[in-house]
Amino acid sequence: MSALDRVHNIDDFRALAKRRLPWPVFDYIDGAADDELTRRRNRRAYDDCDLVPRVLAGVADIDMSVTLFGRQLAMPLFLSPTALQRLFHWQGERAVARAAAKFGTMAGLSSLATVSIADFAALSDAPKMFQLYVHKDEGLNRAMVDAAKEARMDVIALTVDTIVGGNRERCLRSGFTSPPRLTPSSMLSYAIKPRWTLDYLLRERFSLPNLEAYVAAGSSVPASVADYFTTMLDQSLDWKRAESIAKYWGGHFCLKGVMAVEDARRAIDIGASAIMVSNHGGRQLDGSRAPFDALSEIVDAVGDKIDVICDGGITRASHILKALSVGAKACSGGRLYLYALAAAGEAGVTRALHLLHAELVRDMKLMGARTIADLNRDNLRWR
Ligand code: GLV
Repeated sequence: MSALDRVHNIDDFRALAKRRLPWPVFDYIDGAADDELTRRRNRRAYDDCDLVPRVLAGVADIDMSVTLFGRQLAMPLFLSPTALQRLFHWQGERAVARAAAKFGTMAGLSSLATVSIADFAALSDAPKMFQLYVHKDEGLNRAMVDAAKEARMDVIALTVDTIVGGNRERCLRSGFTSPPRLTPSSMLSYAIKPRWTLDYLLRERFSLPNLEAYVAAGSSVPASVADYFTTMLDQSLDWKRAESIAKYWGGHFCLKGVMAVEDARRAIDIGASAIMVSNHGGRQLDGSRAPFDALSEIVDAVGDKIDVICDGGITRASHILKALSVGAKACSGGRLYLYALAAAGEAGVTRALHLLHAELVRDMKLMGARTIADLNRDNLRWR
């Protein structure tokens, strides 16, 4: 029996990732801001709500596809864009894109990705999201949007919750930087994980190709991601600028990191076709509400005009069914596949998606839901 056969859920993947990664790298994925209250609440929010199953619904055949950004996703979960994936496993974004394509769902590519937009786009025909961080360097912003156009990405998600870096105390303690810097205190953590360390040293050189031509920081000068946000991203970013980026891009546009109803309304005004209700995995503002807690009021305000995506805290299909019952169009998550990537590369992400897909099919049937349209608030009771 391989280690992967013994993995039955996302928490099992987390445990395996912890065993395989040097601890500064594991803590970068797993950690969040300040006291990590928001990170914990993101998941626990789902526990405050129970599902009410219906029976005798004839569920031999179910269809859980959804249409998002003009593309059909075979399941109502996609993989949020996340940074630096080749640090977690040498196969990085390539593994994630290929695994997502096997399940007919979308993968996101971060501005801080370790493959270029063009290379990522060439990996499959599955739907793809490019996530944009707005930098102070306007030439870089334009170059990334142009590359996303050229590569025919399906949607740009503009991240709006990283105007400065969050206070990630686990990273402060470990001294985690990108690329990793060997310090006397972190040396041991790399030495006791020789498999990761050899892969890091001997495989394809770590780089951030979407930034390389414009910024040294983050590709050749070690910096923490939080410091990178604070120093490199444009703090003057506002609605006018977001609107002009949406216009320049001209395709499906999504705001990632919306938590307030008023901001959700403004997203419609600037031409967004979707919002991701997200607090960046609790990695930015600790004490911020959980996406699932905020979902119903946002769906009530804008759900008939814009697609609402619930991003955060998801480890189980039942979390997804709860969010869809409230009115989310789809769900997304980062850590849920990053642990799997770190644990076993493409095979790991494939297994994580296989488990979540099987769980979704099982839970849809147990809920008596033949299609996503069968899910609604009558299926839910809050405690
Ligand atoms: C990157 O997006 C991070 O949160 O570290």
